[in-house]
Amino acid sequence: MNVFVTRQLPGGALDRLRARHSVSVWPGPLPPPQADLRRAAADGNGLLTLLTDEIGADLIAASPRLRAISNFAVGFENIDVDAATAHRIPVGHTPGVLTEATAQLAITLMLDLMRRVSESDRHVRRGCWRTWEPAGYLGASLEETTVGLIGYGRIGQAVGRLAEAIGMRVIHTDPFIGGHSLDSLLREADVVSLHATMTNDTRGMINATTLAMMRPGAILVNVARGGMVDTKALVEALRSGHLGGAGLDVTDPEPLPADHELLAMDNVVVTPHTASATVKARTAMADLAVDNLLAALDGQPMAHCANPEVYAQGGGAR
Ligand code: DGY
Repeated sequence: MNVFVTRQLPGGALDRLRARHSVSVWPGPLPPPQADLRRAAADGNGLLTLLTDEIGADLIAASPRLRAISNFAVGFENIDVDAATAHRIPVGHTPGVLTEATAQLAITLMLDLMRRVSESDRHVRRGCWRTWEPAGYLGASLEETTVGLIGYGRIGQAVGRLAEAIGMRVIHTDPFIGGHSLDSLLREADVVSLHATMTNDTRGMINATTLAMMRPGAILVNVARGGMVDTKALVEALRSGHLGGAGLDVTDPEPLPADHELLAMDNVVVTPHTASATVKARTAMADLAVDNLLAALDGQPMAHCANPEVYAQGGGAR
């Protein structure tokens, strides 16, 4: 069958796909333009996509031979899953294998901001290191810090485990698992870290109102999705000095333009959506994405499917 892969993937997973199907891989370092994606989907039986590829209802409707979409990500908000379901196309994703990597980056961002690592590194590089300063670059102590986790699923729990292991106090809020109310967590936490799924309920949940509830000097960490934070309100909370800092692996917009005001702030650390970027996690994501696609093209259920109901719709997926 014909499979289109929207970017080269790490590891050898694509070789397993090539051994069974006719595979074309988009050669560029940037996402394929919509027109190329639509052309490939229109002729293809399988798509292996990234979170930067928009797979909308019209693309799906215009792809009559498409039998499976496999996303190389745990999130899948780049795909119109309802439209895929309506056409009985299973949508695969890659949960589980990036949990530890993502949790580790969340902790890294917290520690960086608490001990002002990137900030002082930038000062040193600018030639601002004059002498040893008794009151210079003072930061926060782990043992005096409460981390508030918004979202306490797989990744939130892994962050909680690591934070506790290094001496931090951990609280959480989660609509399904319980814990604190959002308001009380925001009022109590020194570091607020986002680990929720992007939905209509979580879009913009960190805004002028919720930022105002955070403790003066608190740190915000986001390794979930940029759209959960109102960027303008965040800039304002940092500019006014109400927030002590922000560690952002995801932003809105993404990528952040080089002249964005967040990037001029010393107490902001931005990484380019790399929370899952360990060799182990990205290799496992590629394996899982390929396994999902191979299964679906064989007419078998995907191991990790965003819309498993397609298998119950009168005879299974397309
Ligand atoms: C995901 O998988 O959804 C992450 O954001 C990228 O690894």
